[in-house]
Amino acid sequence: MKRLLIVGAGGQIGSELTKLLRQKYGNENVVCSDLRPLKGEIYESGPIERIDSTQITQIIEAVKKYDIDAIFNLAAILSATAELNPMLGWNVGIGSLVNCLETARLFNCAVFTPSSIGAFGPSTPLDGTPQDTIQRPGTIYGVTKVTGELLSDYYFKRFGVDARSVRFPGLISNVTLPGGGTTDYAVEIYYAAAKGEKFICPLNENTQLDMMYMPDALNAIVNLMEADPKKLVHRNSFNVTAMHFTPKEIYAEIKKHCPDFVMEYKVDPIKQSIADSWPNWMDDSCARKEWGFKPEFDLASMTVDMLTILKKRFAK
Ligand code: NAD
Ligand code: SER
Repeated sequence: MKRLLIVGAGGQIGSELTKLLRQKYGNENVVCSDLRPLKGEIYESGPIERIDSTQITQIIEAVKKYDIDAIFNLAAILSATAELNPMLGWNVGIGSLVNCLETARLFNCAVFTPSSIGAFGPSTPLDGTPQDTIQRPGTIYGVTKVTGELLSDYYFKRFGVDARSVRFPGLISNVTLPGGGTTDYAVEIYYAAAKGEKFICPLNENTQLDMMYMPDALNAIVNLMEADPKKLVHRNSFNVTAMHFTPKEIYAEIKKHCPDFVMEYKVDPIKQSIADSWPNWMDDSCARKEWGFKPEFDLASMTVDMLTILKKRFAK
């Protein structure tokens, strides 16, 4: 990978991936793009393009202009928002992916696209979810993710496109707020605690889900894309996780640092039914074995880091 294009760079992952990839590959070699205008220091440190990734000509133009050899496809509509507008979820999730894969086929690029715990459903074994198992999701988001995994493997096997992917759990971060997912509560709870506000949790207290801190997610992306292809038995997509907890457990962990913090429950039925259909915890041993995935943060160390950063920010 020498010249990289990020599609959907304006979101929770893209805002931090842009910075990391530019540090690693050079500012001029990483082009960030989104449907919406990208502003601020992170983006303006290198090339920016306005790309609607449902329009293949816009992706092709950028790939030709910058001689791109790897595309990071982050454009999607997250689970809870997609459930409110299923056609939008399908059109963006699948439109962007097929356009990236087709561009990659024509111009010999590698492609990274995140899949998700949303690619599983209620008939999947929810404890220790295996790498290869039943995938019958009940959400449009999940349908796009399973389709995306199949399409990516198809482009690899049929055309030799170097497509790689991980099934991310809920991602927790402190740069850009999440964009309408079921796991967003696990980010928002830290913002509320750091601001000294009460938090209303949209999931019930015992809903257990896989999660990961953003630095581990970014390292996973880079390590998978740099992995020796001969060692990859799987490709689209690898289970990866770093921790799993319930709202009750994350609240208890935050209370150790913010004893006055108050959380109440007001269950959102859409988010709750999505969360109930997702794994309690995934088995990510294939990612560990095939390309050395090894997250560093657990709930305790992530909580210290999140609260330190956010409290400092909100104290200003
Ligand atoms: P996000 O919603 O924060 O960002 C998505 C970005 O895509 C936004 O900046 C949006 O403007 C852009 N976008 C939407 N439609 C577009 C279009 N037509 N053309 C170009 N850009 C468009 O999402 P995210 O959290 O950064 O997630 C990125 C990817 O990772 C998605 O595929 C998502 O499903 C996956 N993922 C995220 C998480 C998580 O917890 N954040 C977990 C699992 C998987
Ligand atoms: N964080 C994402 C969501 O909740 C998981 O894919 O939609």
